[in-house]
Amino acid sequence: MRQKLFAFPILLLLVFCFLFMPSPSDAAVTKTMVRVSHGQPEDHPDHVAMLAFAEHINSKLGDRFEVKVYGNALLGDSKNALELCQTGAINYVICSTSNLEAYSKLYGLFSIPYLFSNKEAYFKFMDGDVVKNMYNSTNRGGFTAVTWFDAGVRSFYAQIPIKKPEDMKGMKIRVQPSPLNVAMIQSLGAGAVPMGFGEVYTALQQGTIDGAENNELALTTVKHGEVVKYYSYDMHQMQPDMLVANNMFLESLTDEERAVFDEATEIAHQVELVAWAEQVEETIKTAREKMNVTFIEADVAAFQRVCAPIRENYLKENPEVGPYLEEIDRCNGESSQ
Ligand code: GCU
Repeated sequence: MRQKLFAFPILLLLVFCFLFMPSPSDAAVTKTMVRVSHGQPEDHPDHVAMLAFAEHINSKLGDRFEVKVYGNALLGDSKNALELCQTGAINYVICSTSNLEAYSKLYGLFSIPYLFSNKEAYFKFMDGDVVKNMYNSTNRGGFTAVTWFDAGVRSFYAQIPIKKPEDMKGMKIRVQPSPLNVAMIQSLGAGAVPMGFGEVYTALQQGTIDGAENNELALTTVKHGEVVKYYSYDMHQMQPDMLVANNMFLESLTDEERAVFDEATEIAHQVELVAWAEQVEETIKTAREKMNVTFIEADVAAFQRVCAPIRENYLKENPEVGPYLEEIDRCNGESSQ
């Protein structure tokens, strides 16, 4: 009788183990979830690009991975998403180079006003080999850049037309959280208000800030065109968005898997460039015709003069950016001929 009493719980345990122990075929269907995070709406080129990325992975490695793309800062704004990418909770994040300044001074370069003399020079640098040396400069943070996305040219927009630096005196202008962006606004005689991208619409609407600066897409995709009247082409920065990936995740991939992820990354890059070029044309038309935004030319040379010392100061404080500045100058030289 005592033997029977012991045997029953043991039997129960065996049945439980049998039912819930993963079988070899279960193990085969267990997929690794790959989370991608960015702060743009779902019609933005960044999102379109990452859907192409997801499609490639899901079609080639769908038995092992499932890629999910979270836009609209659903997993947190760029700063928070990067923190989650450090721990591996998020695998991929798209963020601007301004957000990476906190992890590597090299990315501060892109916040230097008028760094590139034109779009051709910017593309030449971004497509070259030298910029790739920057990619792993955030390794200390546990992530690395894998490619770049075009994010156009940044200019100021506000309720009033900004044509020259003096027009900005005393204005409160939102900037991306980074010391160089703050320095730029201060040198123009305005007050810098660093804040996350998602807070800008309400801050403009409520008058907490008088203006902001971004590419034209911000007018339509996140609707800033509803709350400003003038977009002034002073064209102070060309800052790419970077796609960064958690290092532990990249290292966990087999060579074969890594090759497919690299292909998907290249597809995303190409898709983004095409989508960007198409959308920027469309956006200007929509902002002008449907949102009544007036696009004006600013005195670019006057802005350049005021901002000129920022480059030298940054180089003095961060001599490691020297070789990159030399390469940028080379690209500028070649493209302005
Ligand atoms: C652009 C850029 C974003 C960035 C945003 C900002 O939209 O693509 O990555 O977050 O500017 O001003 O914060």
